[in-house]
Amino acid sequence: MKAWQLRAFGRENLSLNEVPDPTPGPGEALVRISSVSLNYRDKLLYEGNYNPHLEFPITQVADAVGEVVALGPNTTRVKVGDRVVTNYCTRWIDGPPTTKESLYSLGNIIPGALAEYLVLSENAIALAPSYLTNDEAAALPCAGLTAWYSLVEKGGLTTGQTVLVQGTGGVSLFGLQIAHALGATVIATSSSDKKLQRAKFLGATDTINYKTHPEWQDEALALTNKQGVDHILEVVGGPNLARSIKAIRPQGQISIIGIIEGFDATIPLFGIIQKQAIIRGISVGPLRALERMLKKFNELKLHPVIDTVYAFNDARAAFDHLERGAFGKIVIRVRD
Ligand SMILES: NC(=O)c1ccc[n+]([C@@H]2O[C@H](COP(=O)([O-])OP(=O)(O)OC[C@H]3O[C@@H](n4cnc5c(N)ncnc54)[C@H](OP(=O)(O)O)[C@@H]3O)[C@@H](O)[C@H]2O)c1
Repeated sequence: MKAWQLRAFGRENLSLNEVPDPTPGPGEALVRISSVSLNYRDKLLYEGNYNPHLEFPITQVADAVGEVVALGPNTTRVKVGDRVVTNYCTRWIDGPPTTKESLYSLGNIIPGALAEYLVLSENAIALAPSYLTNDEAAALPCAGLTAWYSLVEKGGLTTGQTVLVQGTGGVSLFGLQIAHALGATVIATSSSDKKLQRAKFLGATDTINYKTHPEWQDEALALTNKQGVDHILEVVGGPNLARSIKAIRPQGQISIIGIIEGFDATIPLFGIIQKQAIIRGISVGPLRALERMLKKFNELKLHPVIDTVYAFNDARAAFDHLERGAFGKIVIRVRD
């Protein structure tokens, strides 16, 4: 089969290779991949910032949808013909996480999904809702679950609360859509006024351009009558976290998700103490949370925001797009 593999660190070392067809073992399913989507994490992987000990060659990309075409012995959770999506943390089924959840993610120490076929444990896949196209279903798993797990499962989001999402990438737009659909008020930030217009169309009540307002927390406070926001999806990290602490409401939750501006942060501890803010690390989420999210998406009929769909042979252009940043998700269609 054909697979896009990383042969060394660096985007230029991604190549389309012929590799042996995988065979499902006990408790596993063979999935014929239809579409995959890219995440910022894929960029971290090829840059060597996600796992500096990556072993090459390794097939890339975590998020996918496909059809189960064969089962290994004792595989009972899925059947041939099922359309399934991957779960990012392939060994995290439910309950409290270990510190190893993101290690066992596709394209890291196990082969990824940017290939014609993929073998996965039956506990690392969930049925894809039928109302979604393949491209939409592929867009969901990592970014969607990260936003859902942060806001709903760990954040206890309620109607009328205020959610602030940073930028218009995958996690943030899922956060916007979920929060809006559940009756929250959403403040969206972006470097682009055009993207902010599109964020309003998706349901954002207020918007802040973080390029023209680098101290965006002052705008967020002004928009909330100086009260602050209830939830922040912190995808930026680095010095941005200190701004989020200023923008959070007393006992609000900042979900620590991303590191776009840095892996380290100096933060005002007294601000956290005074506000009794909750600073919560997030590592995507377990399979059961993915299943609950898919059920809710099906009820609400939420459609992921897809920026561009690329052909399998044109995967390099998709990774170039990831470097530029997208409005929502970048999809690669593996099979029509
Ligand atoms: N912990 C977890 O479980 C988890 C899960 C998923 C992702 N992540 C992390 O979360 C981050 C986002 O991932 P993603 O896949 O959603 O990324 P993405 O789709 O590539 O989105 C990146 C977007 O971030 C925005 N951005 C860049 N610098 C910014 C800044 N200073 N302030 C506000 N927004 C800024 C830009 O939006 P505009 O163009 O609108 O400015 C850009 O398009 C990454 O660091 C990723 O590694 C973590």
